[in-house]
Amino acid sequence: MLKTRQWRLMAFGLTVAAVLGTWYGAVGQKRTETGADAKLDPSVRENADRMLAEGMRTFRFDTFGSEEFWGGAVKLQQAIEGEKLGGIGPGLSPKKALELGLKVDATAVPTPMADLIKAGKANLDDPAVTVALLKANAVIGITGFFNQDGKSLKSVGIQCALCHSTVDDSFAPGIGRRLDGWPNRDLDIGAIVATAPDLSAFVKMLEVDEATVRKVFTSWGPGKFDAELNLDGKAFRPDGKPAATLNPPAFGLAGVNNHTWTGAWGTVTYWNAYVANLEMHGKGNFFDPRLDNAEKYPVAARTRQGHKQDGEDRITAKLPALHFYQLSLPVPTAPTGAFDVAAAGRGEVLFNGKARCATCHVPPLFTEPGWNLHKADEIGIDDFQAKRAPDDRYVTAKLRALWDTKKIHKGGFYHDGRFATLPDVVNHYDDHFRTSLSEREKTDLIEYLKSI
Ligand code: HEC
Ligand code: HEC
Repeated sequence: MLKTRQWRLMAFGLTVAAVLGTWYGAVGQKRTETGADAKLDPSVRENADRMLAEGMRTFRFDTFGSEEFWGGAVKLQQAIEGEKLGGIGPGLSPKKALELGLKVDATAVPTPMADLIKAGKANLDDPAVTVALLKANAVIGITGFFNQDGKSLKSVGIQCALCHSTVDDSFAPGIGRRLDGWPNRDLDIGAIVATAPDLSAFVKMLEVDEATVRKVFTSWGPGKFDAELNLDGKAFRPDGKPAATLNPPAFGLAGVNNHTWTGAWGTVTYWNAYVANLEMHGKGNFFDPRLDNAEKYPVAARTRQGHKQDGEDRITAKLPALHFYQLSLPVPTAPTGAFDVAAAGRGEVLFNGKARCATCHVPPLFTEPGWNLHKADEIGIDDFQAKRAPDDRYVTAKLRALWDTKKIHKGGFYHDGRFATLPDVVNHYDDHFRTSLSEREKTDLIEYLKSI
């Protein structure tokens, strides 16, 4: 009897275990499924949304108090207004502003003015229209600060978007929706600053006369700026060409270690702090004792740029969200028809093999995971720009949106645009690495590059 009961109990136990097992298994599986498409913890989502919104505002609209420099010291607003409005010179008409590469946010242009522009009735030769656009906060990267009359400019400050945004031209050339992170390759920032009445701040910093300062600024040309001039005072390369580099894209930066064309400065947030403090002349704190190296950075060492401590700090608190926003900016993908799909497929094989590109441009990051820097002779170019950076090297350029030479890569390839086209780049590598690519292979490789 006992035996039978034991058997029954055991059988019952086994059945329960089997049922429970199935149940747990099912639940477990369900858990995994939920895990795969789990909703973010609401507090994480909330933080991300807040950071994105705040970072976007900073990137687009924050002057970091730079109006004290560009307005107060350099008096750029006087050159914008022109003599007729109480400033100096001819003033900056909308036509001239667009010619110099400034962009207008169509969504911020007041409707009556937009209608006039559309109808061809706005006087685009009148600096007063530029001032009105500033009043509407429609000029990308520049904020006007107005006197009490609400009409005349007291000062102007600048933003990151000045060089790192453009527009889609949907309203008219130079007027459209913002494209954050797209470099402004039309902007002649040097020519704009050179119109300012008072360049004594630069005269003092660089210890050269005003005519030289103006000569340097006007040497840069469209899409270029020199982000190290304030450190080493080197305005021209040994070959006599301007030392300025192209404005790089500020999208597709997530996962990338070294930044700028030459790297070894720090992460994206280092550079953000550097630019806001030392280039834009915002108010804040900046620390980098490497800039005390008087041999490499004579100007920075003398002016103590690595130890900037303004009484007021309008930068530091904005760095986290600004960083977050930049890392979120996606790389624009190639539109259909931008490249030949079959050729690109063959080109990809070459990129990863015979042409040796992927040894440095590691897909899908297209720069090395790790220390993504190289000496100039490794890529067969001069080391002038590399030597201005802490590690004397060039960053393996992140290959981004190479299909677009109308905006993103307007002005050419490499840090100074020395190669006008992708075929020029490929021919350079073919010579330098002696890869002996056939003409057909070169074409295939280029089609692949255009797909990245
Ligand atoms: C006057 C034009 C100008 C302004 C304004 C400007 N930048 Fe830049 N930015 C450049 C140039 C030029 C470089 C390349 C510098 C170099 O390699 O030496 C650069 C590089 C960068 C990079 C590195 C990108 C990469 O490919 O690794 C980041 C990030 C960046 N800027 C962010 C900012 C932020 C944030 C602001 C505002 C605080 C800003 N920049 C304001 C011109 C500008
Ligand atoms: C030894 C490492 C290395 C190899 C190998 C290499 N590159 Fe580069 N590449 C670089 C560096 C470094 C730069 C940045 C040069 C500069 O800024 O002046 C660069 C820049 C570029 C650019 C310009 C990007 C821009 O935004 O201007 C293109 C395009 C490019 N490489 C394509 C290729 C192709 C195609 C190959 C193979 C044929 C290749 N690279 C092989 C290191 C390398």
